Amino acid sequence: MSLTVQSAINSLEAPASDRLKPVRIWLYILAAMILLMVTIGGMTRLTDSGLSITSWKPISGMLPPLSVQDWQAEFEAYKQIPEFQQQNFWMDLEAFKSIFWWEWGHRFLGRVIGLAFAVPFVIFLFQRRLSWRLAPSLFTLFVLGGFQGFLGWWMVSSGLSERVDVSQYRLAAHLSAASILFVAIVWVAVKLTP
Ligand code: HEM
Repeated sequence: MSLTVQSAINSLEAPASDRLKPVRIWLYILAAMILLMVTIGGMTRLTDSGLSITSWKPISGMLPPLSVQDWQAEFEAYKQIPEFQQQNFWMDLEAFKSIFWWEWGHRFLGRVIGLAFAVPFVIFLFQRRLSWRLAPSLFTLFVLGGFQGFLGWWMVSSGLSERVDVSQYRLAAHLSAASILFVAIVWVAVKLTP
């Protein structure tokens, strides 16, 4: 009898755990993207490229400069900050482009990760794969991701006047928050393992 009850429970639970498999895969892909982001962030740091983009345009900044005029405008903005004036004054447009691409790539991947979070989230909602029990975890990941982006810009803003580098404290906050975000995503994914 108890075996029959157990198998009935199993048959009820099986579809639920299958239902969450795509959600787990989604979270692991997001974690892998964060790792890639950390690597590109590290390269941005090592190549001293972090201050090459002096503005924060969440939507239009998605596109890199596409014409000679756009490149000149971006370079002119960079020429206004102390890092160029005191340290990189020797740079021409070609040298500027080489630091620009690291920072642009880092921010671009940040936007892609945002989309990779939002689009499957909406699809899973429509597919009714997400239960209310998951809401606090997913909401926390959403907040941590947004906060990471905010920290990124807050850090950049610390290097646009007076200093020739970003604040080391804000950089440490950005790196620590990235680690917390990574661990949190893996944590939520592991918790969904049947
Ligand atoms: C999921 C999102 C993000 C993650 C996981 C992430 C992670 C990182 C990591 C690990 C570093 C290297 C830190 C170090 O070497 O100590 C870094 C550097 C950097 N990040 Fe991010 N980041 C994210 C989003 C952003 C955004 C949205 C911005 C800008 C708006 C940004 C701006 C920067 C800059 C400028 C640097 C280089 C700092 C320097 O000049 O040395 N990051 N990021």
